[in-house]
Amino acid sequence: MNTRVGDRLNKLAAKIRNEPGRSRRARLIAVGGGKGGVGKSFIVANLAASLARMGHRVVAVDGDLEGANLHTCVGVSKPRVSLADFVAQREEDLGKLILDTPIPNLQLIAATDGNLATPQPTQSRRVRLMRELRELDVDFVFLDLGAGTHAAVIDYFMIGDDGVVVITPEPTSVENAYGFVRAAFYRRLRLAMASHDMRKIVTIAMDQRNERGIRTPLELLREIQTLDPIEGRRFVETMRAFRPRLIVNDVRTAEDIKLGFSIQSVCRKFFGIEAEYLGYVNHDELARRSVRAKRPLIDVYPRSDAAIYLSRIARKLLAEGTADQSHEGSI
Ligand SMILES: Nc1ncnc2c1ncn2[C@@H]1O[C@H](COP(=O)(O)OP(=O)(O)OP(=O)(O)O)[C@@H](O)[C@H]1O
Ligand SMILES: [Mg+2]
Repeated sequence: MNTRVGDRLNKLAAKIRNEPGRSRRARLIAVGGGKGGVGKSFIVANLAASLARMGHRVVAVDGDLEGANLHTCVGVSKPRVSLADFVAQREEDLGKLILDTPIPNLQLIAATDGNLATPQPTQSRRVRLMRELRELDVDFVFLDLGAGTHAAVIDYFMIGDDGVVVITPEPTSVENAYGFVRAAFYRRLRLAMASHDMRKIVTIAMDQRNERGIRTPLELLREIQTLDPIEGRRFVETMRAFRPRLIVNDVRTAEDIKLGFSIQSVCRKFFGIEAEYLGYVNHDELARRSVRAKRPLIDVYPRSDAAIYLSRIARKLLAEGTADQSHEGSI
């Protein structure tokens, strides 16, 4: 990463984490998960709509400039403006990209009509985008991320107060979710290291087959603690603050539900991090029907099984503070 932009991102992340008056700002909830089609946009649309229905002011932001479809999930058929205008520097004021949706209190920033040649913002613009998203005058900002572990996706994920990982009970999704958590963890760690040398070691460790033989974050921690105890302490703090939230979607069996707990324990064992299992959403044919109707499930079929679980997760998010605090709770 360009060091200057990296430093700015680092400072922004630190500022956001330490800001005392943060509660007055929007709470930014980024939703990713590595794999495509696992239900990220469906979940964003429904959690955002649930909180809006409870009377909170919510903006759902489509962060997927190359596969935008969140607008459809929240009932906006042809967005007249979108993040693409911000990327192309046609619009500097993010507030002007906010569109109303048919759901009271729920607004949208779409991502349609991106420039196929240059769909992604430059790094410095990305930093600006993230800063401005947090400054929107609402209670919650949901950021729907695209699939994959591209640096842009990971940066959006890291900057959130809450980073939610959506997983479905399939080996491919689980694999990609680990890859996603791993990528986010190392990237955050590299930004947290103040010393150039330690940052370099983190970069080496990001290659799974690196010659130093560092295979896990815990091995990396040991190496850094030996070389530089101050950075070692910073490492431990970063591990503590990194708390991805897990949602298992498309659950069909009791065994599927347990997946969240097993991912939690793998995160603890291999990454030394405490993931939180936010909850699960069962497989429900009405989910597809709601997408076809271009309305959130909780709006069109509020009594369906999946809608009930989604509302439960929304209430849980609401009841909790931000990711830096300690949350214990049952599923
Ligand atoms: N719990 C569920 N039960 C049944 N179908 C579901 C459920 N969750 C999602 N789906 C279906 O899966 C489809 C894909 O979901 P969605 O578009 O939200 O995935 P995504 O992770 O955002 O994909 P992408 O990475 O391509 O953006 C939805 O349109 C919906 O029909
Ligand atoms: Mg999506």
